[in-house]
Amino acid sequence: MSNWYSTMKILLHLLTAILLIAGTVFAGDYLRPPPRKTFHFPWDPKSSSQPQQVHISLAGDKHLRVTWVTSDGSSPSIVEYGTSPGKYSAIAQGESTKYSYLLYSSGKIHHTVIGPLQENTTYFYRCGGESPEFQLKTPPSMFPVTFAVAGDLGQTGWTKSTLDHIDQCKYDVHLLPGDLAYADYLQHRWDTFGQLVQPLASSRPWMVTQGNHEKESIPFLEDGFVSYNSRWKMPFEESGSTSNLYYSFDVAGVHIIMLGSYTPYDEYSDQYSWLKADLLKVDRKRTPWLVVLFHVPWYNSNRAHQGEGDDMMTSMEPLLYAAGVDIVFTGHVHAYERTRRVYNGKSDPCGAVHITIGDGGNREGLAHRYKQPPPEWSVFREASFGHGELKMVNSTHAFWSWHRNEDDEPVQSDQVWITSLIGSGCNTGGGHEMIRILMDS
Ligand SMILES: *[C@@H]1O[C@H](CO)[C@@H](O)[C@H](O)[C@H]1NC(C)=O
Ligand SMILES: *[C@@H]1O[C@H](CO)[C@@H](O)[C@H](O)[C@H]1NC(C)=O
Repeated sequence: MSNWYSTMKILLHLLTAILLIAGTVFAGDYLRPPPRKTFHFPWDPKSSSQPQQVHISLAGDKHLRVTWVTSDGSSPSIVEYGTSPGKYSAIAQGESTKYSYLLYSSGKIHHTVIGPLQENTTYFYRCGGESPEFQLKTPPSMFPVTFAVAGDLGQTGWTKSTLDHIDQCKYDVHLLPGDLAYADYLQHRWDTFGQLVQPLASSRPWMVTQGNHEKESIPFLEDGFVSYNSRWKMPFEESGSTSNLYYSFDVAGVHIIMLGSYTPYDEYSDQYSWLKADLLKVDRKRTPWLVVLFHVPWYNSNRAHQGEGDDMMTSMEPLLYAAGVDIVFTGHVHAYERTRRVYNGKSDPCGAVHITIGDGGNREGLAHRYKQPPPEWSVFREASFGHGELKMVNSTHAFWSWHRNEDDEPVQSDQVWITSLIGSGCNTGGGHEMIRILMDS
């Protein structure tokens, strides 16, 4: 690369950074309480072939994907695993990738799928033939199953508090509706985030979708989602999608769909066609619960980010309604809000419960100002950091609770039993029934 070109790259990078800072300062019209500081833990590359930033994710029936980073480019992408410590009865060979972003070059990012694995079972594993040994538990294949839910994490003192609370709860899978590292163009922050979440993310599957802080596109220089897609590979191929930005998976009796708020969603888009095809395949006898996650909320009575989800909602809400989606989780707004079952802007017994949970602990602080009076569909709203737990007890009953990080204790604040749409007389037939509903609408 010529010197001139490098200089231009740096100048453009600086310009982008200035514009971003200006945007952050002037965008909000609400007062935020003091956010906690971003952690400044040194980026410590360890011995070069030592696995770092280990995290796992579901990768199709009975399989998990193990992801880690090494500084050493010749370190092998193998995972050894078994059900007793130190004894590895199986070994899997995976793939690897790396990327450059402006002046940053990533380490070698390994993705290795292991399985078939037994359900609800503890496995011990080692990456690239190197210690340390990690430990994971696979999800159960039937109810009950518990999800931890927290979005807009970042890497601050509040993030740490939220993660500590999640660690204390018994859960099977973590669901993250967007905004992970808040790297915001500074790539080493993806590495420190990977280290921060490793204790949790190496032991339970983390299933994520992307938010605005994952985009990191710079006109003419960098495409969007380069780091996110390289580091957080999700089972999109396993679910018939052509993009890591939207995919689906099953856990026990729950079908979960991850959508992208920042990738085209209009009715001519690939995402829309994929979503429709995926919903048509849902069999509620096998997966009685249907849950969807994406970043930008459609039902939000906070003054922050008003209306940003409207276009996606216009395009996709009829599909979700026709399929009988039970619960929608979103982030983006740094506060918590739960709705009644809603559709088309008002309460509807056959609509989804929408839960905004963008309160994981990012450095931007909380969104305090709400529209008054609250819309009829809003049941509970509060601007505090925290996390949620969704326990699917059986095919008809789920217990949802939200825990705020008050005084660094996980105080349970909102809780509700949610009953599934199965047997409610609403659309849950999938297949032909759903096509008929869509044709009629
Ligand atoms: C999973 O294992 C735990 C303890 O090992 C047990 O209590 C629980 O009932 C199991 N869950 C299922 C769905 O098998
Ligand atoms: C499902 O769980 C709820 C709550 O514990 C219980 O009231 C209900 O009877 C259960 N249903 C079945 C079919 O077991």
